[in-house]
Amino acid sequence: MPHTKNAATQAFWLAGRQATGDDTLDVTSPWDNRLVGTVSVPTPAQVEEAVAAAAAVADEFAATPAHVRAAALDHVCRRVTERSEEIAELISAENGKPMKWARGEVGRCISVFRLAAEEARRFNGGAAQRLDTDPGGVGRLALTRRFPRGPVLGIAPFNFPLNLCAHKVAPAIAVGTPILLKPAPATPLSGLLIGELLAETDLPAGAWSVLPVPNDRMPDLVADERLPVVSFTGSAPVGWSILDSAPRKRVTLELGGNGAAIVLGDYASEADLDWAAQRIATFSNYQGGQSCISVQRVIADASVYDRLVPRIVQGVEALRTGDPSDPATDVGPLVSEDAAKRVEAWVEEAVSAGAKLLTGGTRDGATYAPTVLEDVPADTKIGCDEVFGPVMSVTRAEGEEQAYAMANDSPFGLQAGVFTHDVQAAFRAQRQLEVGGVIVGDVPSYRADQMPYGGAKQSGVGREGVQFAMEDYTYERVMVLTGLDL
Ligand code: SIN
Repeated sequence: MPHTKNAATQAFWLAGRQATGDDTLDVTSPWDNRLVGTVSVPTPAQVEEAVAAAAAVADEFAATPAHVRAAALDHVCRRVTERSEEIAELISAENGKPMKWARGEVGRCISVFRLAAEEARRFNGGAAQRLDTDPGGVGRLALTRRFPRGPVLGIAPFNFPLNLCAHKVAPAIAVGTPILLKPAPATPLSGLLIGELLAETDLPAGAWSVLPVPNDRMPDLVADERLPVVSFTGSAPVGWSILDSAPRKRVTLELGGNGAAIVLGDYASEADLDWAAQRIATFSNYQGGQSCISVQRVIADASVYDRLVPRIVQGVEALRTGDPSDPATDVGPLVSEDAAKRVEAWVEEAVSAGAKLLTGGTRDGATYAPTVLEDVPADTKIGCDEVFGPVMSVTRAEGEEQAYAMANDSPFGLQAGVFTHDVQAAFRAQRQLEVGGVIVGDVPSYRADQMPYGGAKQSGVGREGVQFAMEDYTYERVMVLTGLDL
């Protein structure tokens, strides 16, 4: 029987039904610290109940017909569409993301559930292989299909509180594998809302749970052998520690980046430079720079640098910073004042080490002003780490080779953007850049939810993107038929 602890406390979702624990978590707006919601936290016994239910239903769920799973995904897609404005407001309230970006995130979540419904209908990984290539295989045929590895533990971050939960949940439902979703402690409400919509479907009890488990209780869940798949999006140190602690599990890590936007010498007309500068200014600062693929490093060919950088600075200064609920706001607060103070400290470190501040560099509570730095020393935090804030560095490169080498001079390798019209340069970029994705003619921040998404080097292992996550959650099992009259 659904119940809530009291009117002000939001239940979590345990094996498809609402439940409350004996502790709560307050969710506050990063913009004005107002209370946005209070969420009940599951007890260890309730978490155990969710894991046991997932393990118990795994076979039944895997056998569910594709049309049932697709219908559930279609339902969530439809309901997110119907409630899109309210959901965007929820994202904006708990995360501080300006409404224009929150609306974009809702639109992407709709796509994720739509894509998952479509993939559920066509996915089977099936292939028939002839075996009569050798005498021993005559009359035999190999048939390969994909089967779930087992229940998934999905751990989502705060920066896309709805869509990165959708990227964990929708592929799991599409392949028929149970999922325990753990939303970020700062932003659990959007993940819980996905639970609310799943509860309107006929998916079997136990097939999904949304559990706002505190971070310090996660190691036990990560180690639990009944959850053979862990899909984590978040910081590099936490991600790699998960992989180290569970080396025999299927672990997918979507970690950080310090995305480079490379502007090559052929991208030189007024229109080219206006476009590049406008995209760079916007996507260094969207969501306060709190995206793993926001533009952190601009590497511009020396022949265009002096015309590009003033345009970028002008574009950055034109961004409106302020209240995320105002539809005109471009840049809202960071997730917390502590996050903004860290960014402030990193910028101060870079400036004391010799970087030149071209604009920005100020903080007001949790809001950090969009900032452009030049000549950032490589050994500063901004020079080599992921800032996860509205800060970019601009650097001059002497030609394409040097630009690619500079982009590769990073421990991270998530995505890169290359502004060029030269198709050969684009292919060289794809060959030479050590990243999971190269975007030609745009910033590294472009992501379509069906594309493979993930990194090289410290940026992670494995790929998200609906179809790729479905492959990740399943494995191939071959069946050989014998004695056939082929
Ligand atoms: C991320 O920050 O890794 C997600 C970026 C996106 O989905 O656009």
